[in-house]
Amino acid sequence: MSQLYDLTEVAQQNGKNGKPCWLIIKGNVYDVTKFLNEHPGGNDVLLEYGGKDASKAFKQAGHSSDAEKDLKNYKIGEINPAAPPIQVQPTALPAKSPTENPISGDPQPAKKSSGGFLCCC
Ligand code: HEM
Repeated sequence: MSQLYDLTEVAQQNGKNGKPCWLIIKGNVYDVTKFLNEHPGGNDVLLEYGGKDASKAFKQAGHSSDAEKDLKNYKIGEINPAAPPIQVQPTALPAKSPTENPISGDPQPAKKSSGGFLCCC
């Protein structure tokens, strides 16, 4: 079975500061570090997508079928489908409604000034 990587793990291998340069193309992870200076399209385009999903860019560059075949030489694994991108944790929300008066438990806002604005003190 193929090695599975999380998106966060791939994102760190962005080719900067001497780090390896990994790309994602159609759910597969490629290590193009050794290919940077051999790529006919230049190393800058590969570095631009270091640690990111380059599926669209790879397709839009109009690569030949030879280039498609070449991909397998750099494949190191696949994106882990069980690890979705960063999610908002609903548990971080306060238990009580923010409009609820925390002292009295009254479902109305705590204080209101006569002008209808919320009091800041
Ligand atoms: C592992 C990933 C990649 C491989 C193996 C690869 C391989 C190749 C190969 C073999 C060529 C020569 C032309 C051809 O046969 O199609 C080429 C050209 C090119 N590649 Fe890539 N490529 C990769 C990723 C990318 C990415 C992410 C971009 C982003 C835009 C890109 C942009 C280009 C461009 C613009 C050319 C055309 C260069 C020219 O004709 O002057 N490539 N690539």
